[in-house]
Parts: sequence; structure tokens; C-alpha cells
Amino acid sequence: MGAGGIASDRWRRRAARLLALIRDGRARSELFTRLRFGAQVHQDISLSFHDRYPRLFAAARALLADRPAPRILSYGCAAGEEVTSLRSYFPDATLVGAEINPGLLRACRRLPADANRVFIASRHDLIAAHGPYDAIFAMAVFTRRPEEVRERDLRDISSHYPFALFARDLRQLALTLAPGGLLIVEHAQYRVEDALAGLPFSAVRGPGEWLAKGPRFAPDGIRIEPQPVIARIFRRTD
Ligand SMILES: C[S@@+](CC[C@H](N)C(=O)[O-])C[C@H]1O[C@@H](n2cnc3c(N)ncnc32)[C@H](O)[C@@H]1O
Repeated sequence: MGAGGIASDRWRRRAARLLALIRDGRARSELFTRLRFGAQVHQDISLSFHDRYPRLFAAARALLADRPAPRILSYGCAAGEEVTSLRSYFPDATLVGAEINPGLLRACRRLPADANRVFIASRHDLIAAHGPYDAIFAMAVFTRRPEEVRERDLRDISSHYPFALFARDLRQLALTLAPGGLLIVEHAQYRVEDALAGLPFSAVRGPGEWLAKGPRFAPDGIRIEPQPVIARIFRRTD
């Protein structure tokens, strides 16, 4: 595509976003969250749907078979789709959903009641107070507008989504796991093991390991070529 084509494509995308903002309460809540929380927001698009990760949910269930009533955190739970999905895999679990977008958090709290489930604002003190967790799902959170990265064919995302933001929050989160607990991460733009260096974690081999669904970047922000096979499930080993 020539320079003119790229520019008009960008304008088309902007116009589409503006229309979505006018029409769609969810898009307005994403904008509000971005303005209010700035760099604390990882992925600011809140797309989610029921049973989005059946392979990973089932793998985690098998790995947690010795914990009949696990405590599970869904970090970045959008309007609760992931938490209600997890309920069907873990009927006896205590489920905690953490979300930074206040409008979505209100939507979560309007879901039909479940006595063993709570939704909280995404603050580290609150997340830690509801732990320690046997499993943490951080799905499609540690990424920033991947479709924009694809469209702009970014080879360096260090200014779009700095590794330091990813590593800081992922490390904090990982340390709220109980010993032996699982960290499950899908659709991150960086590799989990790069962020967890020096912490007592190891990748689970086999389940959760396959080709990354989009580009992955090294800690300096440079794209890893070719797109690697990645681990998605990590266990706390201390
Ligand atoms: C693409 S949605 C993913 C929803 C669900 N986990 C899934 O995979 O279907 C990303 C969600 O992460 C939330 N989010 C972004 N930064 C966050 C943060 N720092 N703490 C908690 N949630 C965050 C967004 O508000 C959004 O609802």
C-alpha cells in the first residue's frame, strides 16, 4: 500500500473508532479507562467471549486436579465472560475477577449471583488480599492493541508497549500465587519467562506449548523472528 493509502486507512480507522464511541457504551468505557489510568492499562480493548480458551482451561483443570477447591484469579476479566466460563471448569473454586475498567467492573457485579465469586478493582493490595491463588489467568491483558502492531508492521514495540510495564505487573501478580500455583498467560506481546527471570517459576512443558498466535518481542522491544513456540502455563516452584 502507498503512503496515501496508509494515511486514508488510518483516517478510516479513526472514523470507525469515533463512530463506535458515539454508539457503544463499552467503547466509551475503554476511552474513559485509558484517560483515567493511563499507562496502568495494558490492553485497553475489552473484547472477550464465553469459553474463549477451552484448551488452556482444560489443561489447567487437569494440572490442578489435586486441588479440589482452588482459588482462582482472572486478571483483566472484562465484563465477567472469563469468570463465568471458569465456573463451568471449576465448579468448587473460589473465583476472583480483577478489572481496571470501572464500567466493566460494574457490569461484572450485575451478573447473576454466585456465592463463591467476587469482583474487585485491579489494585495490587486488593488482589494480594484476596490471594494467595492456586491459579491466575491473565488472558489477552499483557498486550496493547495487537491489531495496530500488525497493521503498522511494528518491528520495535518499546515505545508502543514498554517491556518494563509488562514485567512489573506480571512479577507482582506472579508472587500472589501459592507455592505450586499456576500462572496462565495467553496473547502477551512479550514472553513470560523474560519477565519472571530470577523468580521461582518454571514453564509447564507440553500442555499450553504451541506456536505464538501473534508476534512476540524481546525485552528490548525488538520482534523475535521467526514467531516462536511459547509456553503459556508456568508453575511456582518454591
Ligand atoms: C481483551 S480483554 C481480555 C478479557 C479476557 N481476559 C479474555 O481474554 O477474554 C482485556 C481486559 O484487560 C483489562 N485490563 C487492562 N489493563 C488492566 C490492568 N492493569 N488490570 C486489570 N485489567 C486490565 C481491560 O480493561 C480489558 O477488560
